[in-house]
Amino acid sequence: MKESVIRLMTRLAVQHQAVNLSQGFTDEAPLFELVWGGIAAELGGTEERIGQLENMTLRQIQAEIGADPTFLDWPLRRILGRLQNPRDRYNQYSFPFGLPELRQAIAGYTERFYGFRPDPDTEITVVLGATEGLSSLLRATCAPGDALVVFQPFHEMYPSQADIFGLVPRYTTLREDREAGVWHLDRDELQQAAGPGARAIILNTPHNPTGKVFSADDLNFIADLARERDLFVFTDEIYEHIVYDGRRHFCLAAFEGMRDRTFVVNSISKTGSATGWRVGWVISPPAYTTRIRAIHDTMVIQAPTPLQKGTTRLLNQPDGVFRSMWESYAAKRQVLVDGLRQVGFRVSPPEGSYYLFADYRKVPALSAMAPMDAAMWLIEKVGVASVPGDNFYRVGHDGDNYLRFAFCRSLESLQEAAARLARHLG
Ligand SMILES: Cc1ncc(COP(=O)(O)O)c(C=O)c1O
Repeated sequence: MKESVIRLMTRLAVQHQAVNLSQGFTDEAPLFELVWGGIAAELGGTEERIGQLENMTLRQIQAEIGADPTFLDWPLRRILGRLQNPRDRYNQYSFPFGLPELRQAIAGYTERFYGFRPDPDTEITVVLGATEGLSSLLRATCAPGDALVVFQPFHEMYPSQADIFGLVPRYTTLREDREAGVWHLDRDELQQAAGPGARAIILNTPHNPTGKVFSADDLNFIADLARERDLFVFTDEIYEHIVYDGRRHFCLAAFEGMRDRTFVVNSISKTGSATGWRVGWVISPPAYTTRIRAIHDTMVIQAPTPLQKGTTRLLNQPDGVFRSMWESYAAKRQVLVDGLRQVGFRVSPPEGSYYLFADYRKVPALSAMAPMDAAMWLIEKVGVASVPGDNFYRVGHDGDNYLRFAFCRSLESLQEAAARLARHLG
């Protein structure tokens, strides 16, 4: 096992005061509704008290705590301390597999966006982010020696988790068509990888790091293959709402005959801009849910109770909150695409997610360097942190030409990164 290169690049970015475009997390605040849901649960402690706090005015607070007229000069912390409920349910253990209200919210949210309603009692497990969700379901469904089909470039946790569980990754490579500016699935290679011994395909759409959004046609091909070869599909959909240029994200579990072999992994990390909350969920065929829940309970017990309350609030927001999420990222994508192209990077604009997988071999200062050297040079000399492309591959050398940049930072951070690139490489 090796340390995550992505998290290593983040540490180096901090050390060199670089604009951190390496790790996929934002420097902007999450939606207030999410934050308030967490705060209200921590402070309110019970449903009744949360209800009271919801609309409490300053006048009512003053009456309740019997404060004198100096009340308005009190620090907020002191006031909140007086509002804390001495009774508590929401800072404590709850059902390991998730609060009933959150599983209901996940069912409703899934139905709104994908047209099928998973049963909160038998098909939904609340987990500690997609990362723990995937590991619990890998342990629940696969046995050591089983082959796992993984698209490369990949998110590094797929092969790392396969290693932990003694699974054998079989890689199928997405290839960039520079003329068309798109990343293609190689169907022959996929069919070969999904041959005898394969147990499951891990799919990630919208895709990190290429930004590919698998089309309905791609997904029908994968669904047919999974049915024909009797394979599971584990589908990581954490960028589901970040899709550009009128494209659409499809959930494979909604495809005909796929519910009983598809496991959806999702979280609020990206949708809620709350990567540190560690709340996610797995939608699984009922036959596997008990096992997933048992493994999850044994390893981590549960996701934090008050943060599950906040998540419930987020997922119950109107559709428009989610449907407009791509807009701010589209502006950021433009800044970074332009900034990179101006200094010689070749870039196929991502169709979704918030990553740019950029070919650096035509950038004069970087062209002769290995990916890690190029990434180090950018951190130390330019002050922009990226991730070396070979970190996303295990076979072949396709990754040796690429660096990955995340554009989930504030517009100002991205403009600063573009300015630094122009200053040092222009
Ligand atoms: C494709 C993909 N899956 C999973 C994760 C981790 O998700 P979580 O924070 O929900 O564990 C990331 C984080 O960047 C990712 O890019």
